[in-house]
Amino acid sequence: MGIKLTNFKELSAIEAQDVLNWRNSDFVRFQMSNHDLISIEQHMEFIKSLNKNKDNEYYLVSKGKDRIGVIYLNSITEIDAELGLYKNPDTKIADAGRILMNSIFTLARYKKLDSLNLRVLKSNEKAIHLYNKFSFTIKNEDESFLYMVSTNLKPMHAA
Ligand SMILES: CC(C)(COP(=O)(O)OP(=O)(O)OC[C@H]1O[C@@H](n2cnc3c(N)ncnc32)[C@H](O)[C@@H]1OP(=O)(O)O)[C@@H](O)C(=O)NCCC(=O)NCCS
Repeated sequence: MGIKLTNFKELSAIEAQDVLNWRNSDFVRFQMSNHDLISIEQHMEFIKSLNKNKDNEYYLVSKGKDRIGVIYLNSITEIDAELGLYKNPDTKIADAGRILMNSIFTLARYKKLDSLNLRVLKSNEKAIHLYNKFSFTIKNEDESFLYMVSTNLKPMHAA
């Protein structure tokens, strides 16, 4: 079954609420730069702001009835962008991280980007494990974060 990307600008009200619930879950928010809980008003304002902001794109990723998670590209230029992702904490899909990363890479290739950058908390071992599998390498670090890059935007098949 195919993977479907729904731009945040086209989310139904229920989808927008569900995505906010995932983002506000402890599982996700404590891995984000901003740990604060986000109100529904802030969330809807943020989604509205994406209409004016061409540098940032957010997508809900689904496979049939299964909603797998969220991917995004920030600071999009002609050659690169900064990626982000979080999975639906309740998904039963076993390889959600791989599917989300493959979706990001497909999007990046469609946009003809040469490379993807990311920033990850040094304590986020699950995400770093995933990024390593997708050929990201460390280009810099500070006290809290690793800064990683990949120029090898090839999909990865299931094990
Ligand atoms: C990052 C994320 C998408 C990864 O999803 P996932 O690949 O489905 O992985 P899970 O969260 O289910 O973790 C399981 C994987 O992590 C590995 N893992 C778990 N604990 C680990 C640890 N302490 N060190 C290294 N790897 C670890 C497991 O071995 C497993 O890897 P495998 O698929 O190769 O067997 C998901 O954890 C998530 O949404 N986290 C919250 C948001 C987030 O961190 N976003 C990234 C911000 S930079």
